[in-house]
Amino acid sequence: MNPEMPHAQLDWDDQGRPHSRVFDDVYFSDLSGLEETRYVFIEQNRLKERFAALPAEGHFVIGETGFGTGLNFLCAWQLFEEQAVAGARLHFVSVEKYPLAAPDLARALALWPELKPFADQLLTQYVAIHQGFQHLVLDNGRVTLTLLIGDALEQLPQLDAQIDAWFLDGFAPAKNPDMWTAELFAELARLAAPDSTISTFTSTGWVRRLLNAAGFKMKRTPGIGHKWEILRGAFLGWPAETSAPAVAKPWFARPPAHKGERRALVIGAGLAGCASAASLATRGWQVSLLERHDGIAQEASGNPQGVLYLKLSAHGTALSQLIVSGFGHTRRVLEHLHRGVDWDGCGVLQLAFNAKEAERQAQLAAAFPEDLLHVLDQPHAEARAGIALAHGGLFYPEGGWVHPPALCQWQASHSNVQLLPHGDVLQLRKVDGQWQARDGDTLLASAPVVVLAGAAEIKRFTQSADLPLKRIRGQITRLAQTRESQSLATVVCAEGYVAPARLGEHTLGASFDFTSDDLTPTTAEHLGNLQLLEEISSDLVTRLHADQLDAEQLQGRAAFRCTSPDYLPIVGPLADGPAFNLAYTALAKDARQVPDVPCPWLEGLYVNSGHGSRGLITAPLSGELLAAWLDNEPLPLPRAVAEACHPNRFALRRLIRGS
Ligand SMILES: Cc1cc2nc3c(=O)[nH]c(=O)nc-3n(C[C@H](O)[C@H](O)[C@H](O)COP(=O)(O)OP(=O)(O)OC[C@H]3O[C@@H](n4cnc5c(N)ncnc54)[C@H](O)[C@@H]3O)c2cc1C
Ligand SMILES: C[S@@+](CC[C@H](N)C(=O)[O-])C[C@H]1O[C@@H](n2cnc3c(N)ncnc32)[C@H](O)[C@@H]1O
Repeated sequence: MNPEMPHAQLDWDDQGRPHSRVFDDVYFSDLSGLEETRYVFIEQNRLKERFAALPAEGHFVIGETGFGTGLNFLCAWQLFEEQAVAGARLHFVSVEKYPLAAPDLARALALWPELKPFADQLLTQYVAIHQGFQHLVLDNGRVTLTLLIGDALEQLPQLDAQIDAWFLDGFAPAKNPDMWTAELFAELARLAAPDSTISTFTSTGWVRRLLNAAGFKMKRTPGIGHKWEILRGAFLGWPAETSAPAVAKPWFARPPAHKGERRALVIGAGLAGCASAASLATRGWQVSLLERHDGIAQEASGNPQGVLYLKLSAHGTALSQLIVSGFGHTRRVLEHLHRGVDWDGCGVLQLAFNAKEAERQAQLAAAFPEDLLHVLDQPHAEARAGIALAHGGLFYPEGGWVHPPALCQWQASHSNVQLLPHGDVLQLRKVDGQWQARDGDTLLASAPVVVLAGAAEIKRFTQSADLPLKRIRGQITRLAQTRESQSLATVVCAEGYVAPARLGEHTLGASFDFTSDDLTPTTAEHLGNLQLLEEISSDLVTRLHADQLDAEQLQGRAAFRCTSPDYLPIVGPLADGPAFNLAYTALAKDARQVPDVPCPWLEGLYVNSGHGSRGLITAPLSGELLAAWLDNEPLPLPRAVAEACHPNRFALRRLIRGS
């Protein structure tokens, strides 16, 4: 996305309809946008019958080029609501180069009062919509919207999905020739499910011919309004004369879809486990959430405040893409929670505390749009933060702090989730198609699917013992709010962080200790945290009377972060280690080999771990990613990012390195 112009530039006509300045075209028909949408996209794709025919656990996937005002999406959702049986789900994947700014979206959607119940839900979730994949969970999970923000030709190749119906929208071919290309239509074909259908409002001859050449059988059909004719079609298959699209390598291919009982065990009730449980529960799974403590969020996810801070790269790495997508998703989930107690979107200021950091920040400011992050000079940074600062920095207006246990609680409170506390799983065993979670002779629970979400503790199971997870101890310090510290208005970070008070207390963090196994808070680390505060702002030290506190009396807590060597989380299906090495041993000699051998999956075994120092940003979306692997849904992240998080990446690297 162009950092200077992230949003659609609109003009509004005298009847309140939006018009694109860039494309010089209308978003919907002059006569009746609603009727046109229903006729062109809904009827031509026979959605009424197809929605009505879905089974209770079925799902339907619509793909669209050009989300625009979301009118097509809302019409499809409304029909789905009317026609589909309870338990069926709708996925709508739409690519959009210039997303409407939220106030413009609200203004455009106000034109359709009958869609208001749907539009209102969309509008409350239309926050933190930035470049790349942005996943929105609507209607308690019955409907998901994955927006791919960016150019269609750059985004669609990253999508892993099977589209049942395509809405080929986008401004008129004559006004937007760059989009209507053979290259785009090849992507639509690559993503088409076997019985996929397609429709578009144009009947332009070369569009029809190019779609036919891509494998769709297109037909002209009478139009509506001042469209004389439109096109509809069905996917016949990839044309024989064109070389077939690349498929995923077997070690990253989708495991065979789960059939049978939809029951799962999730082991570990921190951010990763609660997110996994919630994502499965909203898909109709019955989930047993096993936790060794007496309740949820008592280890790393138990801090009073964690920061929603985006440590990005200007180079679009997989980690950076995951962070932008994960941040957006978490921010939207938080909209369901209680602001001020459970979380606060007060913004995050990352100080430019040395020349290297200032340089890094300048690069980020050039690479990302202003509404995600922007540079503040020292006076503006002080005004934002409400305290005196020695430096300016980078401000993330949509960032803030979260009380992680509240997020976990919200996720675990789904009626399909049953918490089983006081259960310390020591072994996992598969018996008669069921994974058994055992504590020696005691069977704690069993189910056909298990998600390992116990942070670094998952190494205790033989099936996941080889995953390279490390524990890093960290300690936070709790500081009582003072009259003078009330002015702190945003989270401020340098090497450490401090947040505005929650329930009368500020959280100051955090230490890093790579060797200690002991979780008793230490005075030395409290003192280290106070040193981090001094580096943030000596004015805040004074306001908090932190220089007069007795270090021995300081309160706080310590826990283990759990990190992987590449700092990406580990999310996805697990394979049998020795069988994997045997199947792909050829890679040790030649890393380019792709043996035609299916991956030896440990059927039903999945991992969600390795969230390091940013679980608030990565764990909730990882729950959705995991559920998408399991339920054969569109992946909510680019394929390459999902592969970068895949558990098999380590075994693969070991094979290639020959170790
Ligand atoms: C000091 C500190 C500060 C941090 N600050 C931030 C921050 O500002 N922002 C941010 O985004 N992130 C922060 N993090 C990181 C964040 O807290 C973690 O990424 C996140 O909590 C990880 O969640 P998790 O569910 O993977 O692990 P955990 O929260 O540790 O949960 C794992 C759970 O599994 C249970 N369990 C494990 N094994 C078993 C078993 N065999 N049987 C039963 N139960 C089991 C454990 O009891 C535990 O409850 C911080 C972490 C620390 C330690
Ligand atoms: C006519 S509008 C779509 C209307 C929309 N489907 C609705 O329901 O409101 C066309 C949309 O396509 C988007 N668009 C145009 N070219 C694009 C491209 N190359 N990649 C992604 N989106 C594009 C425009 O920004 C615009 O929002």
